[in-house]
Amino acid sequence: MERIYFDYAATAPMLPEAIRAYAETASAGPANPSSLHSFGREARSHLTAARDALARMLVCRADELAFTGGGTESDNAALYGAAWAQRRRDGARKRIVTTAVEHHAVLNACRKLEAEGFGLTLLPVDGEGKVSAADARAAIGSDTAVVSVMTGNNETGTLQPVAEIGRIAREAGAVMHTDAVQAFGYEPLELDKLPVDLLSLSAHKVGGPQGVGALFIRQGTPFEPTQRGGSQERNRRAGTENVAGIAAFAKAAELAVSGRAARRERAEAVRAALIAQLTEQIGSEAFRINGSSDPAGRLPHILSVGFDGVSNETMLMNLDLAGVAASGGSACTSGSLQPSHVLKAMGLSDPFCRSTVRFSFGMGNDTAEAQKTAKIIATIIGRLRIR
Ligand SMILES: Cc1ncc(COP(=O)(O)O)c(C=O)c1O
Repeated sequence: MERIYFDYAATAPMLPEAIRAYAETASAGPANPSSLHSFGREARSHLTAARDALARMLVCRADELAFTGGGTESDNAALYGAAWAQRRRDGARKRIVTTAVEHHAVLNACRKLEAEGFGLTLLPVDGEGKVSAADARAAIGSDTAVVSVMTGNNETGTLQPVAEIGRIAREAGAVMHTDAVQAFGYEPLELDKLPVDLLSLSAHKVGGPQGVGALFIRQGTPFEPTQRGGSQERNRRAGTENVAGIAAFAKAAELAVSGRAARRERAEAVRAALIAQLTEQIGSEAFRINGSSDPAGRLPHILSVGFDGVSNETMLMNLDLAGVAASGGSACTSGSLQPSHVLKAMGLSDPFCRSTVRFSFGMGNDTAEAQKTAKIIATIIGRLRIR
């Protein structure tokens, strides 16, 4: 059976070039970049090359990047790191302002900070999943330690006004964080222009390995490391670096950033083909698309669709049996089968949230797969209606 992978937002297949970079680096010899001998120096040179490459892509200084163990770790380190340091500097700064639609890596870190005594404000979103800068302005003040607003949402693709909110946060003396895990490689992220202090990245969403990420920490940002140990990553993230994984991350990132236009075009084409084919096969009234209706207001590779009267559990199971991989909400919410907090925050009813499937695309997909998937969905819906 031909299988179709429409779950790039959960994880992208590792690129052959990244696998090669991993293999070459891992087979080059023992590689602890903190060791002073020649082996260690070689390992450090791989690390330096990867950091320099990533810094060029992001238009930041190489020493403003700390490698981490993935997107979740970057988000946690950003929130705890900035919140604790801000409170230490100014005891009045005890509020975290974030959005109701963040990834759990941000939301659950915020909840932990709340349990530690920080105030927590969750900004609401409109029906398309977008936060308003006016709401952010009203919430951010002299008591705010950290503001965290994601660049693009992992369930709906909706983009947030990060630059505008970043300016508001900075005017108020708060640290601005953005989770750019899904946006990296699709949106321009030029840190010489973007008013953010902290930015999270993950390698496996762009064809790099799982368990590798980076956190941009702008020079001068109040930051206290979460992970304690050695002095790696300029004392911002203790622990021996995953040198081969980082080399592979840099290679995948380079291909994602240099091929950004082609990636956008491919994802947009597959997404549009799936919508067009669904309309033809089941009729436009049988499904509803969640997220921004403006192509400039969303990431191109994510399509969140609710199928009227069909639970996503049933739909996903049947799709899987037919060889199509998609997910309900984000990978982690689909595991728990809870209605998505993102869709709920957008005002969708529980039954509608439970009928929503997320398709997400990448360079390994084509429009013929979209056509085939729409036909499979039509067959599934037809079968379910007969019962
Ligand atoms: C927006 C967003 N943030 C953070 C993460 C977590 O990244 P990682 O899987 O590398 O821990 C994900 C992964 O699904 C994501 O989509």
